Amino acid sequence: MNRPIVSGRDPEAVARALADRVAVRANEAARRSGRFAIAIPGGSTPERFFRILAAEFRTRIPWDRVHVFWTDERAVAPDRPESNYALAERTLLAPLDLPASHRHRMRANPQRLDASALEDEQELRMFFGAPSEAAEGSTFDFVVLGVGPDGHTASLFPGASTLEATDRWVLPEPNPRHAPLVPRVTLTLPVLRGAAEVAFLVCGSEKQAILEQILRPRAGTPLLPAARVAARGSVSWFVDEAALPPAAGPGSRT
Ligand code: 6PG
Repeated sequence: MNRPIVSGRDPEAVARALADRVAVRANEAARRSGRFAIAIPGGSTPERFFRILAAEFRTRIPWDRVHVFWTDERAVAPDRPESNYALAERTLLAPLDLPASHRHRMRANPQRLDASALEDEQELRMFFGAPSEAAEGSTFDFVVLGVGPDGHTASLFPGASTLEATDRWVLPEPNPRHAPLVPRVTLTLPVLRGAAEVAFLVCGSEKQAILEQILRPRAGTPLLPAARVAARGSVSWFVDEAALPPAAGPGSRT
């Protein structure tokens, strides 16, 4: 499977390479359709990427055309440190003063997790004009994903039933296998398959082993969640040198 790798000498270089790619796609989408719909992840890796977007791409991206969505969310208040929304608010949305109508926060209500996941899904389907029965179809212009040390991505964990969704776009994950161990909601593989482009952002030596398994799956072992992600267009990997598996071969370097 063609999985172009953009490797950077350090997390700063690879975050900036990803920001450059997002800027190109955002301007293309804004010219083509008048808007750019991007889904962003949580965790710790994307913070540097968000800060670079806010600090260096204020005029290089048509932010008034950008709609921000999330790949997953923890079922906590949006001002809690575990909240993926809180991370983006602090490092990207507030510095850019992105209008509330362009911030599509996942509800992730712990008291009504299933219902709130369905409401998130309905909001997505309305935004993308996809009738309820449409399992495929065009969705995001761009999706940024991270990878956990177990190969999870978004809140799609190895062996979870959420991986087998065929027509749901957003599902609850009441039993995440990775900290923080709070209930979550997550985008599913079908809605990711509708994205024009998916880019994984992976940094740090602690990710090298799992990245090796994702990029070069061993025959007879189940594919890890991150390895099962497909897109309408390309799936690319933005990886710093520390996380790059030696066998991954020479990617384009930044
Ligand atoms: C989340 C993320 C998750 C994350 C990975 C990697 O809600 O936790 O969306 O999928 O991308 O766990 O996290 P780090 O960047 O902290 O390694």
